[in-house]
Amino acid sequence: MQVIKLSATDSTNTYLKNLSVREEVPDFTVVYAVHQKAGRGQPGNKWVSEKGKNLTFSVLKRLEGLPARRHFLLNILASLAVFDALQILGIPDIKIKWPNDIMSGHKKICGILIENQMQGQQIPQCIMGIGLNVNQLEFKTLDHASSLKAITGKEFDIQELLLSLLSLLRGYLGQTGPESYPKHLQAYSKHLFLKDKSATFHRPDGSSFEGFIRGIYPDGRLKIELEGTPEAFGFKEVLYSY
Ligand code: BTN
Repeated sequence: MQVIKLSATDSTNTYLKNLSVREEVPDFTVVYAVHQKAGRGQPGNKWVSEKGKNLTFSVLKRLEGLPARRHFLLNILASLAVFDALQILGIPDIKIKWPNDIMSGHKKICGILIENQMQGQQIPQCIMGIGLNVNQLEFKTLDHASSLKAITGKEFDIQELLLSLLSLLRGYLGQTGPESYPKHLQAYSKHLFLKDKSATFHRPDGSSFEGFIRGIYPDGRLKIELEGTPEAFGFKEVLYSY
């Protein structure tokens, strides 16, 4: 495994993407930055991280014939790797907020940005970026953000966390075959934030409704039960409050 450690870069995802365009990058190359200056979040969002306080890294993973229709498996595997790492550390009340935020209670502590390279109907490689808030204590206007230290009162070793996460990620990313999809889908669904709890959801047109998250469809859409009937919601088709 090649780990490229940078003292600063704009975005580890962008750095790795550019590197892979310029040269042949080995499978599971990792780029880690002490200071990520212009981190990218889900489309339209930024990922802000204080210098030296958090874990910001990306992994380039080659995939053997992962069909595009099963792209959500990558969100599942990344989320489960972070989930397991945080469980091992004893972080309380860890949940996965669909599609791939990791929460402790009602606070977001980790975000994941997966950028797939497409070739026809296949995904031959992806870049998986993970931002885990570790020792940062101030989040300014980000009311729903928190960190491991803010939650536990303890300081964490960022390098140790990186190694633990990489080992879990490596294990999960070795299981991209169709046979393991139902097992991972089930594990992911089990740990969903707000699962089976009455919650308010918002549609992009501003309307809102009450419902219950019941799980995930195999294509990755969120299953919300509305007045007794399950409905599928894709990314950006529904928002829900923390
Ligand atoms: C989100 O919650 O919107 C996703 C945030 C992803 C942040 C990580 S930090 C490492 C990698 N590099 C980036 O620019 N973004 C991801």
